[in-house]
Amino acid sequence: MPPPYQPSQLRLLHGAIALLVPLAWITGLLVYSAHDGRFGRLPFTPPGEWIDIHGTVGVVLWPIALLFGFYAFTAGRVRLRQPANAIALLALSLAVGSGKLMQENWLRDGRLDHIVYAVHLLAWLLIALAVSIHITAALQRGGLPLVRSMASLQLRSGDRPGHWFAQIRRSFKVGR
Ligand code: HEM
Ligand code: HEM
Repeated sequence: MPPPYQPSQLRLLHGAIALLVPLAWITGLLVYSAHDGRFGRLPFTPPGEWIDIHGTVGVVLWPIALLFGFYAFTAGRVRLRQPANAIALLALSLAVGSGKLMQENWLRDGRLDHIVYAVHLLAWLLIALAVSIHITAALQRGGLPLVRSMASLQLRSGDRPGHWFAQIRRSFKVGR
């Protein structure tokens, strides 16, 4: 069987998400450890402006997450029927949505009782769970060849950036 091929648009957006989410997760953990710590702290929290660093990762992440969501609901919607894919996207939406509502001064001022902050923390737990389920399911369904195909740099003719718009447009026409 030939190895699976992933559309370049998906690989680019998904690749950026798969890099940025762990960065947001880790910098978020450092923010938590430095400014909250009600459920414990890391044994060592490196000094740094973690809120600003995390905020910067978040600012880069949210527009890409928006594009990725748009892709997943249009050209990628057949695969969104896989619960493990949908769960990952749902957890990402919750983390990014609550992140957009966060204010950087809340934690600096010790105001830890905002509902938005509670949701953002919950999203942090959920995204770890959802991505673990997502990776396990991908490995079960297609094994390493499927996972590797998401990181492949190979490009087929007809799948270059110039074709992306047409791919999205086609997904509106094809009733799948
Ligand atoms: C994977 C987990 C996480 C993701 C994807 C995420 C994502 C985001 C996003 C997209 C923003 C908005 C940035 C902006 O547009 O201004 C944000 C802001 C923020 N997040 Fe997170 N976050 C995560 C975990 C956490 C955790 C665990 C904490 C800390 C306890 C945290 C604390 C904050 C704070 C304080 C802000 C406001 C920062 C600012 O506005 O400069 N986040 N986050
Ligand atoms: C970090 C956050 C992640 C999110 C939010 C996410 C989300 C998604 C979504 C929504 C899809 C379906 C795309 C479509 O509709 O066409 C997908 C597919 C896929 N993802 Fe992720 N993903 C993440 C991380 C990862 C990681 C780290 C890996 C691998 C180690 C991975 C492996 C895959 C694979 C192999 C597929 C194709 C699955 C299939 O054919 O159904 N993902 N991902």
